Amino acid sequence: MRDAKPRAIYLKDYQPPAYLIDKTVLYFDLHEDHATVEATLHLRRNDGVAGDAPLVLHGQDLQLESVALDGRALDDDEFQAGDETLLVHRVPARFELSTRTRIRSQDNSSLEGLYKSRTMFCTQCEAEGFRKITYYLDRPDVMARFEVAIEADRARYPVLLSNGNAVAREELPGGRHRVRWDDPFPKPAYLFALVAGDLHSVDDSFTTCGGREVALRIFVEEKDLDKCDHAMRSLKKAMRWDEDVYGREYDLDIFNIVAVDDFNMGAMENKSLNIFNSSCVLCSPETTTDKGFQTVEAIVAHEYFHNWSGNRVTCRDWFQLSLKEGFTVFRDAEFSADMGSRTVKRVEDATVLRTLQFAEDAGPMAHPVRPDSFIEISNFYTVTVYEKGAEVVRMIHTLLGPEQFRKGSDLYFERHDGQAVTCEDFVRAMEDASGLDLGQFRRWYSQAGTPLLTVRDEYDPERERYTLVVSQSCPPTPGQPHKEPLLIPLAMGLLGEAGNLPLRLAGEAPDAETADNTHRVLMIDAAEQRFVFEGVGEKPVPSLLRGFSAPVRLEYGYAREDLCALMRRDDDGFVRWDAAQQLAVSVINEVQEQLQANQEPRVAAVYLEACDALLADTSADPAMVADMLRLPGETYLAELAAQRGGADVEAIHGARETVLRALASHCEANWLDAYRRSAVDAPYAPEAAQIAARGLRNTALEYLAAAREEHINLARAQYTAAGNMTDRLAALRVISQRAAAQVREETLAGFYRDWRDESLVVNQWLQVQAAMPGDDALERVRQLMAHEAFDLRNPNKVRALVGGFANGNPLQFHRGDGEGYRFLADVVEQLNSRNPQIASRLLTPLTRWRNYAGERANLMRAQLQRLAALPGLSPDVYEVVSKSLED
Ligand code: TRP
Ligand code: ZN
Repeated sequence: MRDAKPRAIYLKDYQPPAYLIDKTVLYFDLHEDHATVEATLHLRRNDGVAGDAPLVLHGQDLQLESVALDGRALDDDEFQAGDETLLVHRVPARFELSTRTRIRSQDNSSLEGLYKSRTMFCTQCEAEGFRKITYYLDRPDVMARFEVAIEADRARYPVLLSNGNAVAREELPGGRHRVRWDDPFPKPAYLFALVAGDLHSVDDSFTTCGGREVALRIFVEEKDLDKCDHAMRSLKKAMRWDEDVYGREYDLDIFNIVAVDDFNMGAMENKSLNIFNSSCVLCSPETTTDKGFQTVEAIVAHEYFHNWSGNRVTCRDWFQLSLKEGFTVFRDAEFSADMGSRTVKRVEDATVLRTLQFAEDAGPMAHPVRPDSFIEISNFYTVTVYEKGAEVVRMIHTLLGPEQFRKGSDLYFERHDGQAVTCEDFVRAMEDASGLDLGQFRRWYSQAGTPLLTVRDEYDPERERYTLVVSQSCPPTPGQPHKEPLLIPLAMGLLGEAGNLPLRLAGEAPDAETADNTHRVLMIDAAEQRFVFEGVGEKPVPSLLRGFSAPVRLEYGYAREDLCALMRRDDDGFVRWDAAQQLAVSVINEVQEQLQANQEPRVAAVYLEACDALLADTSADPAMVADMLRLPGETYLAELAAQRGGADVEAIHGARETVLRALASHCEANWLDAYRRSAVDAPYAPEAAQIAARGLRNTALEYLAAAREEHINLARAQYTAAGNMTDRLAALRVISQRAAAQVREETLAGFYRDWRDESLVVNQWLQVQAAMPGDDALERVRQLMAHEAFDLRNPNKVRALVGGFANGNPLQFHRGDGEGYRFLADVVEQLNSRNPQIASRLLTPLTRWRNYAGERANLMRAQLQRLAALPGLSPDVYEVVSKSLED
């Protein structure tokens, strides 16, 4: 915490490091009331860069005990230890710098650097946490080999882990012991990790394509040993997949995963020692939902894939974060698609993008996939860098095709192995391998904001010509008032009466037809373009943005009948789903207008009938049916309304609820039938067919409970009979939302009694309650913060309860008296000094204040202003608050 205003740093100011580190030797001496860290850095002047620049190391919250250069202790006038640096005035071209520092891990509540999570020591160094461990060149373009020794009490900390290979274990006097680790791969400090604890492991092994036998271990507390199987299976699948699809083999003899309870994010890809939030690795059918199983599989794969996309080839600087994150998210998304249902995965990812990322792009924190400035890098682990970054890589994949893309990734890994590189290096490898010019495409990295494609069409029945006129634009974002046209791959087809029509653009030979001539990708690269299709014998319905081929908004004036046709019959799963969503949005908007005009609301019959038909079609994929019949969320609707001038929270809620109830009653018979026919008899398995069946069944349950009060009994019966957490929690959610007070409270209390010892399950219980309706919702959340099950120091609990309320209970968060906003700001204030990363992330819903109509915007802004005026604001919170208030 500092008092001077934190300053922004800029990509354009990047300078290569003045010094490099060949080897880093660390000695950790861990105690309950302090830890000492001895570091010897084998440094070398970076020729041609340094001149006679002094050595400046990063450091934060460190107590320096001694400094020596080549073994000679330095006098006080030979160095300067400031708040955030250690400066050594005169150093030779090559030298060893040794420091001894003391840190207080037991008091480190930021969960960054070396800290204690319950009984174990662990680290989180990305992005700039290593400087809280020792003085260092804490930047990703400084890569060193690490030799680490850890000394600790043997009884409390029988397991001592770091990166690479364990090379020695020694017993020491006084009940202490020591383990030494060597990591042969040079790495930046952000990939360093250390764990010490009373841990137990589930062990397995994997033989790589090159015949290397790798020992796999997942370390957890003893009580969680029975929750590691799914993560282990996922890890082995990911290792095989990366060999098959990318030709990437694992490069050490061991790979360790550790589960920790107090963790700021999902997981961290430290070389050969991945550290996971326990919520992202532990699974069992009794305690984990289907969604949880899928998350674990995806995150285990994500962190594993970083071994190549992130560790072997890393980032030059933090502006290049998407180089590793965008690429790795693309890799894990393709992995998940291959493991389960490709279309369902695509719909999920498109939903995240359209709700969270488009909102970020439209808000005060909007930034390009490669940001050009930041105050606090922790604030830039965003949906833009991760998910939009993945979409940018996906578009490259679409433009090049799978074979050329693979050539490009091979070239990238080969050319840059062991280096710290930029997004530009990635794009250039793709260009060099494929021969394709990605010049204009590069703007996706530098230009923020969500592009809008506006599509018009004309049909000429005489000449059998169909013309699409496509124009693109992009709204201004902070610091970027004017936008250039992007290269946008627009995948499309044309739907006729009997199915998708063959496509032939004017000027193409009629026999230029390929096997799949009903699908193509149009290259949109100018402000406006025309595409003329010939031989179109009927007026088609355009099927646009198939597979969500680009992260853009698309507007085309579809008639409701067109959307019904796409929904029922288009070849592309994403388009079918999107048509259902668009139809739902238009119906909800219509009801909202009727309600505002004090008219009796009428839910369009075409919509209800299309949904009923979909539900009756027992040959359809149940997962898709469930996705298509789930109404867009209130937050997404608010985001859309904001585009048109200002969201009215109550009106949106009222309209959505009206449509939901209409859909529930209109289709009641089919909902009941879907509920009954999708019961799963087989023993629980987290596999696609079962997940789909449970998904549809639980969606049906939600609608049934909205259709008729007596159907609450179905939820109660399901709650009691459930043999897995997916069904139990779904029933609990329905009961908490719709049952009478007594049933609701009894069921919630019973759930806590049953699950109080399973912390991750208790978090679900907190989140369910955070989303409960009623004017007492905030009061309930306040009381839960005082409950024994809550702990402000644990990010999972804060996210479940406070995040669950602010993001998952829009009507109550946006209470007219502004108490929801005040509550959130109060929590942010408390967390600002304890855990700035979590404080800053919690703030997101308040940053959207401009989206809301009237007095609410003022109330939201007032809380941001209150926070802005606080003394001792962390850079994390300062950046979000100040940017949100800029005009
Ligand atoms: N690099 C990690 C990932 O994408 C995430 C990460 C970044 C992280 N910063 C963190 C995790 C801070 C925990 C804390 O997998
Ligand atoms: Zn990652």
